[in-house]
Amino acid sequence: MNDFFTKQSKESGPVECFGQTFPSEEARREYFLKLLREKLTDPEFRKTEGFPIGTDEAILAMSDPPYYTACPNPFLEDFIRYYGKPYDPSVKYSREPMTVDVSVGKTDPIYRAHSYHTKVPHLAIVPSILHYTEPGDIVLDGFGGSGMTGVAAQWCGSAPATYRHELESEWKKQGKTAPKWGARRVILNDLSPAATFIAANYNLPFDVEYFAKAGKQLLKEVEDELGWMYETLHTDGKTKGRIDFTVWSEVFTCPHCASEVNFMDEALDNESKRVKETFPCPNCSADLNKDNLDRVLESRLDTSSGKSWKRVKFRPSLISYVAGGVRYEKQPDQNDLAILAKIDALPLPPEMPTVRFPIEQMYHGSRIDPKGFSHVHHMFFHRAGQSLCALWRKAKAQPDNRTRLALQFFVEQAITSLNVQNRYGPHRYSQSNGAMPLVYYVPSQISEVSPWYVLSGKLDRLTKTFSSFKTSRLLKNRSTRSRT
Ligand SMILES: C[S@@+](CC[C@H](N)C(=O)[O-])C[C@H]1O[C@@H](n2cnc3c(N)ncnc32)[C@H](O)[C@@H]1O
Repeated sequence: MNDFFTKQSKESGPVECFGQTFPSEEARREYFLKLLREKLTDPEFRKTEGFPIGTDEAILAMSDPPYYTACPNPFLEDFIRYYGKPYDPSVKYSREPMTVDVSVGKTDPIYRAHSYHTKVPHLAIVPSILHYTEPGDIVLDGFGGSGMTGVAAQWCGSAPATYRHELESEWKKQGKTAPKWGARRVILNDLSPAATFIAANYNLPFDVEYFAKAGKQLLKEVEDELGWMYETLHTDGKTKGRIDFTVWSEVFTCPHCASEVNFMDEALDNESKRVKETFPCPNCSADLNKDNLDRVLESRLDTSSGKSWKRVKFRPSLISYVAGGVRYEKQPDQNDLAILAKIDALPLPPEMPTVRFPIEQMYHGSRIDPKGFSHVHHMFFHRAGQSLCALWRKAKAQPDNRTRLALQFFVEQAITSLNVQNRYGPHRYSQSNGAMPLVYYVPSQISEVSPWYVLSGKLDRLTKTFSSFKTSRLLKNRSTRSRT
């Protein structure tokens, strides 16, 4: 990484945290990381119920203490002592119950910046916080998920005038007095480390302009290193094209003649792009449908264990690419297959997790295990795995700690689109985010998208969204985040 990034990380200026002043954000982080490191060596601390399974180094790398720790937050007490107000029975507290329509705000760019199941839009939470609390109060969300309560609490201080005006008019109509605008402090907690990481990045300030530059550089570096994996030759035989996505089709056998049937080649109607109810076997012409085909398990080399491994058979069936600024589709040719074979021969990147899924404890484990997807690395075709790991490696190498976490938050969003759960949807506008929600399911037609296809537009959208949301409160309104 170049001097610009290294210099930036050291130059944030003095910052205040729990009443202490530090010369820079970097110094504040160093100080609390040291305390967290010491705390992690305490066996009693690690015995806390729900403590994450992770090395000290992994927990420290994800954390930005005292505001966010990827484990139970040992600084919570300090936070409450510093920001809390002792209970005073002489101060009367009374509020009428209130209900809020949570369907609002689901198209808001902040809500859509990062997906999370069962997510509640922050604009649905804002009125409750305004109603029940005062500026500066501490709000606890013990089941915080992606941290929308934190976003809502900060929004109470940074909401634009139009929003304030609309809400006050509405409350007036209901006979309610105007709310007290101003940010509230928030403690967000969740059992899932992924949730806490998403929430921390939604809520902790970062330098958006700097993030945008670092994100662009990250994508460019991955392109320089792995761009060759996504090159294809246009059908004119000479123009180079750039692959956006490759559709992989499951290969079955015909129950009548046992010959191979590439599902997409035979079952997809090229005109309507819909799967036909029935279609003839390309060898014996018998009537086939998805239910009477036989599954094929092929032996492959598991690049993690070096042992043989059986998985359902997939073949690349369609390539969507851009050449000379125009989008085309084609069937993979010899050149494309040779590139894929070259990628297959590469070793598994060290960043790729290789743990086995707890299949026996998974509600949907029975859907992936019989198809051969029993370990995390099985969920990525080789090219997608190489790309994702390169993105992760380069994001981790970012010298500025806060930007590194924001970049990892950005890269992490490619996981759902780069894995084998990403269904091909010829009728969808985008081939990203095609996984069936809330289940582990590997479809018969998979869109293996390129990293730039998923992330380039996302970088622009994130930058735009967070520039308006984060800068107004940069380094001022802190929340804290813990995990139990
Ligand atoms: C309904 S979701 C919350 C979604 C959140 N409102 C948002 O905007 O993203 C409930 C959350 O509770 C978490 N959870 C479930 N059991 C928990 C426990 N025992 N302790 C802490 N969190 C838990 C889940 O991981 C999930 O993220």
